Amino acid sequence: MLIKSSQDGFYHPVASEITSQRVYTGRRDLIKLMASGVAGAALASWASREARAQTPRPGKLAALPHVKSDVAGAVTLEKLTDYKDASSYNNFYEFGTDKSDPARHAHTLKTSAWTVEIEGLVKKPARYALEDLLKLSAQEERIYRLRCVEGWSMVIPWVGYSLSELIKKVEPLGNAKYVEFVTLADPKTMPFVGSRVLDWPYVEGLRLDEAMHPLTLLSFGMYGELLPNQNGAPVRLVVPWKYGFKSAKSLVKIRFTDQQPATAWSKAAPNEYGFFSNVNPSVDHPRWSQASERRIGEDGLFAKKRKTLMFNGYETQVGQLYAGMDLKKLF
Ligand code: MTE
Repeated sequence: MLIKSSQDGFYHPVASEITSQRVYTGRRDLIKLMASGVAGAALASWASREARAQTPRPGKLAALPHVKSDVAGAVTLEKLTDYKDASSYNNFYEFGTDKSDPARHAHTLKTSAWTVEIEGLVKKPARYALEDLLKLSAQEERIYRLRCVEGWSMVIPWVGYSLSELIKKVEPLGNAKYVEFVTLADPKTMPFVGSRVLDWPYVEGLRLDEAMHPLTLLSFGMYGELLPNQNGAPVRLVVPWKYGFKSAKSLVKIRFTDQQPATAWSKAAPNEYGFFSNVNPSVDHPRWSQASERRIGEDGLFAKKRKTLMFNGYETQVGQLYAGMDLKKLF
């Protein structure tokens, strides 16, 4: 994020994850995916319908069954970012610091036999297999803006369900105030873990009421398909009113606590990245303005920047969470 990039010494050209993908049919992908053991059970009932439909989809990954959703007015009428841009211009520091690094390197991420552990201040701690997590609630497609702290944004149709569905199942105890999200840090498959850029694993956190807000999405897919590795497969968070770094990728643990979690970016640069990190055009980053943004895909030489909106445009839905708080201090 704030780091000057070109220190990656690793370059493994990948038989393109992206360019060849349009040639695949959904059925073939699904069979492949099921053979790999990921999400097989959850997707099985979808298989015959998918085989019949065979509509061209943006990627090469298996379709994720979903219903369209307009939870709390989350759908924007803006043009969607191209799948190619959304899956090739990424921040996923475990795979390098250049925007193109995750798409080039994240093929090494192993998403089979994935589990997510729920622990801490809950009545029902559990370890969920991904297949069970996929089935826990209906998958919905939600079009959210994601605004990165670096000044760019995208509009992406995410697929998942409100994190609150999972939280209700595990029953937080009365003293649980925060939720900590821990992501995979596997130096064998993630070449940049071990670099000193961040204190690994990448950890994020939300206040419990933020985590329970219906907009907070536990996401398994985008553009109707499973998440590409570089976008945080097999399961990530999307918190659309906060800067993109709050949307932790490749989750392995969700912990309920009574203390505000120490997050990776606030540990790395506490004066630059606060715990809340709500999108706020009137609170500048110490080194740059946050008043405007560049929409990925609209970036010709003379393209006009867009004005950044308070809470990334989700103020009516989430503003009340911060009533009475000084958002300049609690940035
Ligand atoms: N999650 C992990 N585990 N590692 C990361 O480096 N980067 C964050 C966030 N989640 C990051 C992460 C940042 S800075 C952004 S802007 C978003 O992921 C980018 O998500 P996208 O690549 O799907 O657009």
